[in-house]
Amino acid sequence: MSRVAREGRVSPLLFTFLAFISFVAIIYSHDFSWASSHVRSPQKHQTLNKTPASPVELKHKESKETRETMLPFAVGKTPEDCDIFSGKWVRDNKSKPLYEESECPYIMPQVTCQEHGRPDKDYQFWRWQPHGCNLPDKKGTNMQIQCNLNVGVSPGKRMLYVGDSLNRGQYISMVCLLQKLVPESGKSMKSSYDSLTVFTLKDYNATIEFYWAPLLLESNGDGLGNNNVSERIIRKGSMDTHGQFWEGADIVVFNTYIWWMTRLKMKILTGSFTDTVQEFETVTANDAYRMAMQSMLEWVQRNMDQTKTRVFFTGMSPSHSRSIHWGGKADGNCYNETTPIEDLEYNWTLHAHESIMRITDEEFSKTSIPIAFLNITRLSSYRKDAHTQIYKKQWSPPTPEQLADPKSYADCLHWCLPGLQDTWNELLFAKLFYP
Ligand SMILES: *[C@@H]1O[C@H](CO)[C@@H](O)[C@H](O)[C@H]1NC(C)=O
Ligand SMILES: *[C@@H]1O[C@H](CO)[C@@H](O)[C@H](O)[C@H]1NC(C)=O
Ligand SMILES: *[C@@H]1O[C@H](CO)[C@@H](O)[C@H](O)[C@H]1NC(C)=O
Ligand SMILES: *[C@@H]1O[C@H](CO)[C@@H](O)[C@H](O)[C@H]1NC(C)=O
Ligand SMILES: *[C@@H]1O[C@H](CO)[C@@H](O)[C@H](O)[C@H]1NC(C)=O
Repeated sequence: MSRVAREGRVSPLLFTFLAFISFVAIIYSHDFSWASSHVRSPQKHQTLNKTPASPVELKHKESKETRETMLPFAVGKTPEDCDIFSGKWVRDNKSKPLYEESECPYIMPQVTCQEHGRPDKDYQFWRWQPHGCNLPDKKGTNMQIQCNLNVGVSPGKRMLYVGDSLNRGQYISMVCLLQKLVPESGKSMKSSYDSLTVFTLKDYNATIEFYWAPLLLESNGDGLGNNNVSERIIRKGSMDTHGQFWEGADIVVFNTYIWWMTRLKMKILTGSFTDTVQEFETVTANDAYRMAMQSMLEWVQRNMDQTKTRVFFTGMSPSHSRSIHWGGKADGNCYNETTPIEDLEYNWTLHAHESIMRITDEEFSKTSIPIAFLNITRLSSYRKDAHTQIYKKQWSPPTPEQLADPKSYADCLHWCLPGLQDTWNELLFAKLFYP
């Protein structure tokens, strides 16, 4: 396929994203005074007067009603009755994948499945089709492309993913989706050795960042190389420890789940990690998780300006470690799987941790903070084919013994890129621009 054809087919969605970097600040920086009074007022207004009126700007100015109900970054609305997380996987040999594994240099070896010998590519060719409506890239986004070209200013935007290795996968997917539109000299990727990774789109003065905080709160899993802690400890009320590095972000995407699942009990440190005598409470993982959800929501309320920023939370990423759940062999897992589960009535909750889901459901329904929930659990649970299996390298290459025993070695938690997590980002785009 020609280069032009390839780029042509991905650009509407991606241009939408670059477009928001350029013009959304203009649309929303002037006159969004509808903010409820309990949010912190904007620290500084960007003054971008005298920019040419774009079609989108006019559209918004025309309709006071639209303006009052629009969230930041929104350019339209998904039909009320359409739940974009409810749908089915459709084989799509034409528009997928959105990029090639080999053309995105930022994918970590943990998920470069082709490089590590995965024999099939089938997992790359599936598109999510919601029941009842299409995702926005199918609606045509020419209007926004136009805006991007017209406006040509770079106000500076910061998008930040915060969480664990699954969120890191989604972050890298986003970087891969965008990086191909920018020449080598216009981008850079920097990792500071412990927590923060920053991808910079220089011409747009925009960054896309990942902050490693697998439990969100301060914990003994923070920093690199701390993955092998046998007992997980979190510090009570410590959201600001990491949160101070998140302030000022325009879009934040949180996740946290898998790190809570290793034990039934968790230790909560009541003082500080530097205390000579440390005091702990022991609580169930569920209670600890609820505490973290509440701390996160409080942090968002205290620190994010609802008139200018958007916050997302990505739900639980399912794993496929027991093929008996989908009618496979009693002792199998995701290894060798090359097709999604087709039965839409299939009991997908087998792959999810129901008590944790209930906690997110409850905490999110209680809160008045406009935080968008990316409910990817069900749609991902059909994708038994999309995991990295044995085709990866984490700390060291797999040993011959591990490769000889794929049933116990296979990674049925993380996902190959390109792949499923590109869809999570498409859904994120949909929620961002068409909430
Ligand atoms: C897509 O390609 C695969 C493998 O080449 C083929 O088996 C399948 O029938 C194709 N599907 C469609 C819808 O074109
Ligand atoms: C780039 O963005 C930052 C904030 O995100 C801002 O402080 C800075 O002035 C911007 N630079 C330019 C050249 O627009
Ligand atoms: C993890 O730590 C335990 C003791 O804390 C040690 O016995 C084990 O070998 C470590 N595992 C790895 C993979 O480093
Ligand atoms: C995986 O698939 C290959 C080729 O189809 C087959 O030879 C092998 O036995 C399968 N392994 C498992 C564990 O199912
Ligand atoms: C996520 O989707 C599942 C399946 O449709 C549903 O049961 C659950 O309540 C949803 N959670 C939220 C927070 O919307």
